[in-house]
Amino acid sequence: MVKKYVFGEPFETEAVTIPMECTPGVMELGKTEAENGFSFTCHMDDTDVIYGLGEANRGINKRGYIYVSNCSDDPNHTENKQSLYGAHNFIIISGEKNIGMFFDYPSKLTFDIGYTRQDTLTVSCERADLYVYVIDGDSAYDVAKQFRKIIGRSYIPPKFAFGFGQSRWGYQNEKDIDTVVSGYRDNQIPIDMVYMDIDYMQDYKDFTVNEERFPNFPEYVQKMKEKNIHLIPIIDAGVKIEDGYDIYEEGVEKGYFCKREDGSDFVAAVWPGWTHFPDFLNPEAREWFGSKYARLIEAGIDGFWNDMNEPAIFYSKEGIDALNQAIKDYTENSEDKRTEKTDDIMNMANEIPAEVRSIMERLQNSPEDYKRFYHNVNGKMVRHDLVHNLYGYNMTRAAGEAFEKIVPDKKILMFSRSSYIGMHRYGGIWTGDNQSWWSHILLNLKMMPSLNMCGFLYTGADLGGFGSDTTRDLVLRWLALGVFTPLMRNHAALGTREQECYQFENIEDFRHVIGVRYRLIPYLYSEFMKAATQDDLYFKPLGFVYPEDRRAVETEDQLMLGNEVMIAPVYTQNASGRFVYLPEEMKFVKFMPDGSIYEQIMEKGNHYIDVALNEVPLFIRKGACIPIVDVAQSVEEIDMSTMKMIGYEGASYKQYQEA
Ligand code: GLC
Repeated sequence: MVKKYVFGEPFETEAVTIPMECTPGVMELGKTEAENGFSFTCHMDDTDVIYGLGEANRGINKRGYIYVSNCSDDPNHTENKQSLYGAHNFIIISGEKNIGMFFDYPSKLTFDIGYTRQDTLTVSCERADLYVYVIDGDSAYDVAKQFRKIIGRSYIPPKFAFGFGQSRWGYQNEKDIDTVVSGYRDNQIPIDMVYMDIDYMQDYKDFTVNEERFPNFPEYVQKMKEKNIHLIPIIDAGVKIEDGYDIYEEGVEKGYFCKREDGSDFVAAVWPGWTHFPDFLNPEAREWFGSKYARLIEAGIDGFWNDMNEPAIFYSKEGIDALNQAIKDYTENSEDKRTEKTDDIMNMANEIPAEVRSIMERLQNSPEDYKRFYHNVNGKMVRHDLVHNLYGYNMTRAAGEAFEKIVPDKKILMFSRSSYIGMHRYGGIWTGDNQSWWSHILLNLKMMPSLNMCGFLYTGADLGGFGSDTTRDLVLRWLALGVFTPLMRNHAALGTREQECYQFENIEDFRHVIGVRYRLIPYLYSEFMKAATQDDLYFKPLGFVYPEDRRAVETEDQLMLGNEVMIAPVYTQNASGRFVYLPEEMKFVKFMPDGSIYEQIMEKGNHYIDVALNEVPLFIRKGACIPIVDVAQSVEEIDMSTMKMIGYEGASYKQYQEA
């Protein structure tokens, strides 16, 4: 059962799609205060588990830390970080009772889940203007499914998007992309997508293509299609300020950019230099920006990734003015100040003075800047910081709504960096700028079921790691998790070690691991479609399936996938295997590098499994089976006639039937 409570005058985020009457009275679950800001506090029993929060740091059980919903462009996902790129305000308190709570609030919201006091959950925000949805269910799993029912069906990508994709920030031109394509095709490593990062554009201008680098873009896109390669360009939120650039000029003329209080267009620097931000909260501006995707779709493009849409700000005009002022003030008075502070002339010359440094440090993604611009919401000016977490959501909504008009009969691949619940109807997400760290394989795994609870099914991380130099073993281990994530993409930052699969020794190992993905695509796609069309989860924590088994509930490095599978990837350096916990008897399956399949029934309980770097493990639940096919070089080339079942003999697999 779902109850909706209202406090003050909430902003309509349109996260929930089912109209519902508000329940009068107070929420019985805990103590609510709505006088000075909002806070909800309740007691947690020792064994209560808190699920949810989608793209958030730390464990599947969120207990024991503090998380802040505040979409942030922060590429350093260390354990102490409280905010990442998304804001997914749904939690499940699971214990004797199972209660879901969705705090529909578009600005900064804090979840103190046993951080201040171990037994206390407090959810708070500055303004008491929000909806709270409270869901009562039989189990955590049941609560998650009820929640999914009220937020609308998850985005479904085209089938090719279940293939493998290669990306790297730095591919400049046709030659660079050709090198990637032949690196894969010539080595028979399956691939379906090559991603185009910002360098394909003319001076980082959205919806443009650099004509020197891609002299005949539609022809090139077509040439790639003939090789079963889809090119997937990036679109950034900021629109470059440049005379003669039609999107900039139109946006200014029609008033579609975010404005300062005085009505002038807000100016901030991102990759193109000075930009304006489209006002995605204004339906007209949304429609206008969305219609621009047609330019690339007409050139044959059938997928995009939306980036920098927190929105990321390198610095604003106001920030730079403040910095210049501080430098000027300092230079004018420097001699006096310096002699007071230190008598070491050499040190003085090398150091940036504190008063200048503090301004420099606050230039990027500054909360002050988020208070400097406004959205036009049905004629009312709404300050950005009050609706900050809706920006990326509405950028992707602009695209999703436009695709329905531009190509109503076609599915377009779309995923975003920033998101809010509701965006899951228009696209998937990737988890942003991770690092080539072993701990980030595990973080990737833990985020997946939490994201599914919040509706985001088409998701994945930058495999191999975005920042830092990667290593061969790390890429292989991460790919062996990526085999199972709907979005399977290898992506890396400019200047890092090249990590395309053909850059390493013994390429056959990569060929094999990615090949396993293609062998499993009919199964993975079918389970994805079931999850999407039935508002169900593709990835589940073990506790959703075995809630009575405490050991299963506490297992956070294994996941249930679909109805038949459990995954347990290796995520530690130099390990030749790992410990697993089986909540029931299962069949251990390993895809061996020679193409054979190792199968062994294992009893419920603890086991150590050997998994070499070039093997892909999974478990099939007792009495179940799954379909596999022969390896293909692209999704298009999968030969369904090669399908056979693996798992328990005599079992049957209920496939998703496409209507
Ligand atoms: C951001 C994105 C990253 C991309 C880079 C350059 O950091 O998160 O994926 O490669 O910008 O566009």
